[in-house]
Amino acid sequence: MTDIVLRTENLTASYDEHIVVKNVNLSIPRNSITAIMGPSGCGKTTLIRCFNRMHELSPKAKVEGKVILIEKNHQIEEIDVYSIDPMLVRRKIGMVFQKPNPFPTMSIYENVIAGYILNGIKLKKSEADEIVEETLKKVSLWDEVKDRLHKKGTFLSGGQQQRLCIARALAMKPDIILLDEPTSALDPVATLKIEELLEQLKDTVTIVIVTHNVGQAGRISDYVAFMYLGELIEYGPTDVVFTRPRHEKTEEFLSGKIG
Ligand SMILES: Nc1ncnc2c1ncn2[C@@H]1O[C@H](COP(=O)(O)OP(=O)(O)OP(=O)(O)O)[C@@H](O)[C@H]1O
Ligand SMILES: [Mg+2]
Repeated sequence: MTDIVLRTENLTASYDEHIVVKNVNLSIPRNSITAIMGPSGCGKTTLIRCFNRMHELSPKAKVEGKVILIEKNHQIEEIDVYSIDPMLVRRKIGMVFQKPNPFPTMSIYENVIAGYILNGIKLKKSEADEIVEETLKKVSLWDEVKDRLHKKGTFLSGGQQQRLCIARALAMKPDIILLDEPTSALDPVATLKIEELLEQLKDTVTIVIVTHNVGQAGRISDYVAFMYLGELIEYGPTDVVFTRPRHEKTEEFLSGKIG
């Protein structure tokens, strides 16, 4: 049986009575990359925002059904994410957005540990130093920024800023990171660098990435979910879905006929 890290049960999400995610049942394997694809407006962003309880921050937003996070420490624990503190959920399930958004008033150093600062978690200087160095190394940014850790994060290039945002999410040691089209604002070289990085990271964290880009999904994902008009149409190992899609809509999307 596959080792699952997150499972949704009849997940339905709406904005003011307008249902945009319909009855989604999805199980995400641990330490893998799952790509969520589908045409604009099909509900990809809303779906992943339900995973870490960001959807409920939108006005008139509603969520029904369940999101279960499965943690494996000494034993296996199933956590209903809608039954615990949302701040804790967002530490366990981090998020990276389309546009790199380092906190503009914070230095590179502070940005990495921003999750601790904002959660009021006090770190000793030596602990903070260690988290900053280790995490920046993980995102291959350490060598580029180690001499200017106390400069503002916004001075970095777009690709570096996005790696800093990934570091900010990783620093909280999450189970999962959600990335919503993280490379759509980047040039091809910076994009490739992020793709390589995600492949390295999946040993330590599960990755869910929303992407419009079929090529990107094919290059990096282990599993792919195809959504259409709020429904999960097809989901499976990427090589299977790409070579033998079961649904006509998936095939049309993959061949560029829709979306
Ligand atoms: N804050 C909001 N208030 C009301 N409706 C919204 C809001 N955000 C999104 N929607 C609507 O919900 C539906 C799904 O939107 P969502 O952003 O999840 O789609 P998406 O697949 O991520 O699209 P894209 O590929 O363009 O980012 C769309 O019809 C959209 O107009
Ligand atoms: Mg979106």
